Amino acid sequence: MNELGRLEDLPADYVQALRQLNLVPLWPSLRAVLPPGKPRPSTQPTHWSYQALRPLLMRAGELTPMEKAERRVLVLANPGHGLDNMKASSAIYLGMQLLLPGEWAPAHRHTPNAVRMIVEGEGAYTTVDGEKCPMSRGDLILTPTGLWHEHGHDGSQPVVWLDVLDLPLIYYLEASYAIEGQRQAVKPGRGDQAYAAAGVVPTPLYTRADKAYPLLRYPWAQARAALLALAADQPDLQAVQVSYVNPETGADALNILGFYALMLRPGQTLQLPARSPASVFHLIEGAATAEIAGQHFTLAEADTCCAPGYTSITLVNARSDQPSFVFVADEAPLHRKLGVYETRG
Ligand SMILES: [Fe+2]
Repeated sequence: MNELGRLEDLPADYVQALRQLNLVPLWPSLRAVLPPGKPRPSTQPTHWSYQALRPLLMRAGELTPMEKAERRVLVLANPGHGLDNMKASSAIYLGMQLLLPGEWAPAHRHTPNAVRMIVEGEGAYTTVDGEKCPMSRGDLILTPTGLWHEHGHDGSQPVVWLDVLDLPLIYYLEASYAIEGQRQAVKPGRGDQAYAAAGVVPTPLYTRADKAYPLLRYPWAQARAALLALAADQPDLQAVQVSYVNPETGADALNILGFYALMLRPGQTLQLPARSPASVFHLIEGAATAEIAGQHFTLAEADTCCAPGYTSITLVNARSDQPSFVFVADEAPLHRKLGVYETRG
């Protein structure tokens, strides 16, 4: 590819005359916005150790009362995007949130979609659209765009969860805002009870549910059991992986980010293909290593790492006698809808 003219090759008075009319020449920046062959992501392979961040999160609990924080969160920020920009990747925000016994995080709703992956503690709950969702380690709880949600805690130990949002994308679109609300009345009925078994959905008098998000809580006990059953049923299956989906439609659980659970068999090395979306890996259970673009990370339980798109990733189960379980989030639904999804190699 031939070198293009640079800005400094142009006479200063010409550049100045352009700028006064809100004009800029394309050719000095053309290669930066359309790089040859593959994007140049700002997203860097990054690892966040839970053991290292936990004391700092607990200290936030001492330093900042709930009424001064509203959401007590340490953002997992990718240095490639600048720490203050609150991005794990161009579309993914990650945060570790702490709720102490007796605390309540007030009701609100917002345009970005969120999920919570529960990291530790018992007794907390999130009420989403009037449905009270208990929180246990490994559970995935959706708070889709526009739905009211609030968090409460009736237990006796701190509760921590990983928030995954499409906030950077919605903010980039200048479509990000929140509305404060009153405490929600809890309605009867729970999606995780109504959709308790695969292959059957509620159909009262032949009528299917018309909710956009019929299932809000995906219990880890069920996802884990599904992975173990799949692994046992298909001993030659290389990647023991399930997707979190809308049980009525089979579509991705949310519109923009995708969510998966992955089981690494004892001692397994799993090569994931290079794909266009960035992805996030959070170790629910076990011990693993991740190699991302030549960087090696050791993942202990509750550790999180992220990978840019167009990068091959190797995950290794560090345990030879037990499976390890990984929660994965990525930008695949967004890339598919935009028509830019690719797999390479
Ligand atoms: Fe929220």
